[in-house]
Amino acid sequence: MHGMITGVGMYVPEKVLTNKDLEKMVDTSDEWIVQRTGVRERRIVEDECTSDLAVEASKEALEEAGISPENVDAIIVATITPDTLMPATALHVQRKLGVKKDALAFDINAACSGFIYALSCADAFISAGMVKNCLVIGAETLSRFTDWQDRTTCVLFGDGAGAVVLQATDTDRGILASVLHADGDYADLMVIPGGGAKNPCSHQALKDRECFIKMKGQETFKMAVKHLVSVSKEALEKARMTFDDVDFVVCHQANLRILQSFARFARVPQEKVPVTLDIYGNTSGATIPLTLGFIRKKGLLKEGNIVLLNSFGASLTWAASVIRW
Ligand code: UT7
Repeated sequence: MHGMITGVGMYVPEKVLTNKDLEKMVDTSDEWIVQRTGVRERRIVEDECTSDLAVEASKEALEEAGISPENVDAIIVATITPDTLMPATALHVQRKLGVKKDALAFDINAACSGFIYALSCADAFISAGMVKNCLVIGAETLSRFTDWQDRTTCVLFGDGAGAVVLQATDTDRGILASVLHADGDYADLMVIPGGGAKNPCSHQALKDRECFIKMKGQETFKMAVKHLVSVSKEALEKARMTFDDVDFVVCHQANLRILQSFARFARVPQEKVPVTLDIYGNTSGATIPLTLGFIRKKGLLKEGNIVLLNSFGASLTWAASVIRW
């Protein structure tokens, strides 16, 4: 047995923050943001928190899969912006959705690669015979951890969620191969330095703006394309396929230039690489399921399609999965 995606859902908060709005907040311009990142607008929460976004995306995924919350055996949430440090956001989702009391539920912190890590864990649990029906979610409220005075980061991020139902199958559809990597030597490339055990929340940490995301954008950019291409090749080889077999590459949505360079280096036609960062920005662990939900709504994913997922994120994690839809 292995895991097969039987339902996909996505959800974004209503409030839209445009580049023009940002021009009034920091020294930036719509022209710079569009040229350097491809982002035009992003969604920002008002009263909602990460689990609220996750629940809405999950409802849509469960509906498509045709299963009720009482039949969910496992909830895994990929997030770096949990509702609370403890308990995990997955438990808030369990309570709000009404998932059965003895389901397993936990969060994964692998930043932008979190969703592929979570999907891979769920697939392994299914293969091991531990569970049958998993809810795998990527959900973020990055706006809560964004320094709205830092133009180098605040123009990039947005809030949103995506979810899939992964169910046990013995058919040839589903997850064919996954590859997960990490390198802790680069831990300072993207970091929230304050608010954890090393530098607990304090007046000083707040004053120094250490409870917000810091990123060395250029260094991160340089490694992104190289790792996205190599990890994708590795996953495709594991599935005995090449880029030519792939119908869609759902990439982590960090920067349009990264997606374009990936397509060029991998020799994948640009139209096979869907873009959602223009309207949702970089939603870290949520970008991949959000994009899957987005293209599903457009009727693009068909039974039998080969879908490659790949991602790259803090600091550093990178991952890929090959799926037969
Ligand atoms: O999702 C996790 C993984 N994350 C990534 O993969 C992000 C990868 N990095 C990137 O996408 C890009 O590096 C950024 C979009 C973050 C930055 O683009 P860049 O082309 O690498 O710009 P830069 O950092 O080299 O900055 C170029 C200039 C600088 O000015 P000077 O020093 O040349 O005078 C910056 O101060 O652009 C300036 N700048 C801005 N100007 C207007 C930086 N941010 C802004 C801004 N508006 N928002």
